[in-house]
Amino acid sequence: MPHLNKQGKTTQLIVDDKPFLILGGELGNSTFTSMEYMEPVWPKLKTMNMNTVLAPVYWELIEPVEGKFDFELLDKLVKEARNNNLKIVFLWFGSWKNSMSSHAPSWVKKNQARFPRIKDDKGISHEILTPFSENNLEADLKAYKALLKHLKESDENDHTVIMIQTENEIGMLPTAKEYSSLANERFKENVPTELMQYLIKNKENLAPEFNEIWGKSGFKNSGTWEEIFGAGLQTDEIFMAWYFAKFTNSVIEAGKAEYPLPMYVNAALNRPESKPGISYPSGGPLPHLMDIWRAGGPSIDFLSPDFYFPDLKHWCDLYTRQGNPLFIPEHRFDNTVAAKAAFSLGHYESIGFSPFSVESSAHPENEPLGKMYKVIGQLTPVITAHQGQNKIEGVLLDKQNQECVFQLGNYEFKVRHSYTLGYENNSRNDTWDMAGAIFVQTGDDEFYVAGSGIVVTFRNVSNPSLNVGILKVDEGKLENGKEWKVIRHLNGDQTHQGRHVRIFLDDYSILRFELYNYN
Ligand code: DGJ
Repeated sequence: MPHLNKQGKTTQLIVDDKPFLILGGELGNSTFTSMEYMEPVWPKLKTMNMNTVLAPVYWELIEPVEGKFDFELLDKLVKEARNNNLKIVFLWFGSWKNSMSSHAPSWVKKNQARFPRIKDDKGISHEILTPFSENNLEADLKAYKALLKHLKESDENDHTVIMIQTENEIGMLPTAKEYSSLANERFKENVPTELMQYLIKNKENLAPEFNEIWGKSGFKNSGTWEEIFGAGLQTDEIFMAWYFAKFTNSVIEAGKAEYPLPMYVNAALNRPESKPGISYPSGGPLPHLMDIWRAGGPSIDFLSPDFYFPDLKHWCDLYTRQGNPLFIPEHRFDNTVAAKAAFSLGHYESIGFSPFSVESSAHPENEPLGKMYKVIGQLTPVITAHQGQNKIEGVLLDKQNQECVFQLGNYEFKVRHSYTLGYENNSRNDTWDMAGAIFVQTGDDEFYVAGSGIVVTFRNVSNPSLNVGILKVDEGKLENGKEWKVIRHLNGDQTHQGRHVRIFLDDYSILRFELYNYN
């Protein structure tokens, strides 16, 4: 059974009894709707060396008539993924897809009396199911349960489906909270004891930006939402986050009772200073609301960011607080993804990486992502064996961030973008393509690096009076996950006569190298 497991500080996804790194790609929203449409997509995924596809399950297609489930298409698609040796992370497009309820079946959409919508501050309803309705919860939960029951019956022996994202980019629009009578009643009530108890118990570890909000009322521990958190958009958002988290948690609990796959939620990120509901979906699993989501969603395994903004490191730092494992289910499919895959798997020891709409590639054989996945795929057993022990690092470099320094064992590594050497043609360009790599320490003096665009020099930090030399550098491949096969022994010009270890930017390779010390 796929599950999460802690190794040291790192959470690993275990699939078929082995730690698994998701080298993934998410499909465009409407791509997984027929075998025919998927036919040319499977080979693209394979060409890009993906081991996992992130693909929607559409509520409207699996339950076209209430209580009558149709899993025929889903079964065929799962079988085809299996034939292609691909794992699946299913995205449950249930009640919410980018805030909206566009994937709800017609019997839900057309019965507003039974399945109420949210209302904005002007009393206007939108195509968004309210999380405050028991009927809405029950309908989503029953469908999700049926899905998980079916997956258990059909996939329990193969484990093609390894994880589920429950709903997609949940959040309230176009106002920070909703104003249906159901919501208004709840908003007048005291903050639920369950939430207050969580906050009191975890007070020392709450996200600082959330603590600051609570602190303004002197950490009051009972009262209405506005008495505890103050009146305003931030409280409206906290209120929505709680009820979205509770709803999603109930759906997840019901699903896990059938078949306990790991389950997570994803978020549309907010620009700094932007207003909830007005400029971004309010109440989603965002860093400033992570305490609310963790309190309301104890069965949610982790919260994930979707990247359509450039500042990967900033958001990943926020998402990895409180031990939240990092998985990046979406990133704009741009020319930074190869480097960022290596960086996130190295620096954050993430569960995996997955750009969005990967089938849009016209030339999958040329995709840098595919080249990066090839080398990381080979190195996976080495990476996972050393996770959680301060033996792995990742780098991400461009013209603005040309170098970084970190320590592995006794050594300080100074890693620079390979363009700093000035050998490569594009090094005089105004912008530099991103370089990224993952480093693993496998012995006191032995290391692997996989990636592109880096040049590395070393210092002994335990004994700075010693000089560090390079004993040997081999470029190679790891066969069957364990046999290291040397393709090229690198020295001379390729190591600047023993001064550095490097991989140029248009090259994606694995190097194994040994260092030594001399007086
Ligand atoms: C984020 C969503 O989660 C995806 O399903 C898709 O709609 C993309 N945005 C589109 O850019």
